[in-house]
Amino acid sequence: MLEIAVQEGFGADRHATIERFETVRRETESLTANLTAEDQSIQSMPDASPTKWHLGHTTWFFETFLLARLDADYRVFDPAFGYLFNSYYEAVGPRHPRPDRGLLSRPAVDIVMAYRDHVSAAMVRLIERVAEPEWNGAAALLELGIQHEQQHQELILMDIKHVFSVNPLLPAYQAPQLQVQAPLRPLAWIDFDGGLKEIGHRGTGFAFDNESPRHKVWLEPFRLAARPATCGEYLGFIEEGGYQRPEFWLSDGWTTVREQGWEAPLYWLREGEGWSVFTLSGRRRLNPAEPVCHLSFYEADAFASWSGKRLPTEAEWETAAEDVPISGNFAEHGHFHPCADPSSDAMPRLRQMYGDVWEWTASPYIPYPRFRPASGAIGEYNGKFMCNQIVLRGGAAVTATGHIRPTYRNFFPPSARWAFSGLRLAEDIG
Ligand SMILES: [Fe+2]
Repeated sequence: MLEIAVQEGFGADRHATIERFETVRRETESLTANLTAEDQSIQSMPDASPTKWHLGHTTWFFETFLLARLDADYRVFDPAFGYLFNSYYEAVGPRHPRPDRGLLSRPAVDIVMAYRDHVSAAMVRLIERVAEPEWNGAAALLELGIQHEQQHQELILMDIKHVFSVNPLLPAYQAPQLQVQAPLRPLAWIDFDGGLKEIGHRGTGFAFDNESPRHKVWLEPFRLAARPATCGEYLGFIEEGGYQRPEFWLSDGWTTVREQGWEAPLYWLREGEGWSVFTLSGRRRLNPAEPVCHLSFYEADAFASWSGKRLPTEAEWETAAEDVPISGNFAEHGHFHPCADPSSDAMPRLRQMYGDVWEWTASPYIPYPRFRPASGAIGEYNGKFMCNQIVLRGGAAVTATGHIRPTYRNFFPPSARWAFSGLRLAEDIG
């Protein structure tokens, strides 16, 4: 029994399902339009994967979990690809080591693209032809595969940014984008009642298994910053010696700062007396009004300590976000970088909860009460990573539009900085 929450009636219209599948596949490929074959083959650190690998791996997911299981006539494109493009599914078999993905000069990009075409065509045939009783389970897996591919769209952008950042030429992934010119407003705060609340997936629409089950939580009264912390505010932390003063840092964070020699967020570059930032549109001057981005959890937490505040828990974040419309600076806008708050009203309300930057929470990534991963290989999707990682919420400027929900739980190790990760301050009331 596959336990993936999907929208009721998802897949009922097979034609619409094909269209959605093909749209997401095309969106992935469009992200590579400006990349050379050389760009697509590089692995700049063990955590990041070459673009080419993402293209193959997302394809392998559909081949392995749908075509191989449900289409007796399916012809595997290349049996060796199962080894190359399996990411972490122990139940599926052995795999190529993650840190060595950059050594794969073969298969060439055009072969990987042919693999994509082969699998996409077979998927369309499967969606058209699979018998009704099998379709119900297949539709849930298909939705998971589509959501998985959207996650890798974000990874493609994160990873190529890192690849370009270590090239002394600092290549630009795309042309400069129009920057939002907005005045930097003083930080406002929004109050929330405490009490018995509920968080987690409600049971309508798609959700990953880690968002369930919905359950009760107790919250003390709290307030949240109306917007994410900005580069200008973070600069204040740097200028007051934030990276030299252990009193703001968690012990592991301070150790990491000293070991890594951190003195600013990832992709901040000294420029004379000031700073510039490396973006997917190349290097540009630091904009103090933009949300600060590419922080580790340790830096986000240290900044909050320096501010005399704290990070919100994921339960606080989710209950506050539940009534906020899901719109914002997502990938469809093409900035691929957080923007200053573009709104002109002065209403006291939460801004930029969705899009721009993932917001580090204070919450460890652990199972919700009574969580049960799905059985079989798909159960490895999320559950086995519930250790030594921290939850982030809200999506970022590189997150696929339509991919985010109030209950969505992203997660990274506390030292990770290559995600588009920032923060929003919180504090106790009373
Ligand atoms: Fe994956």
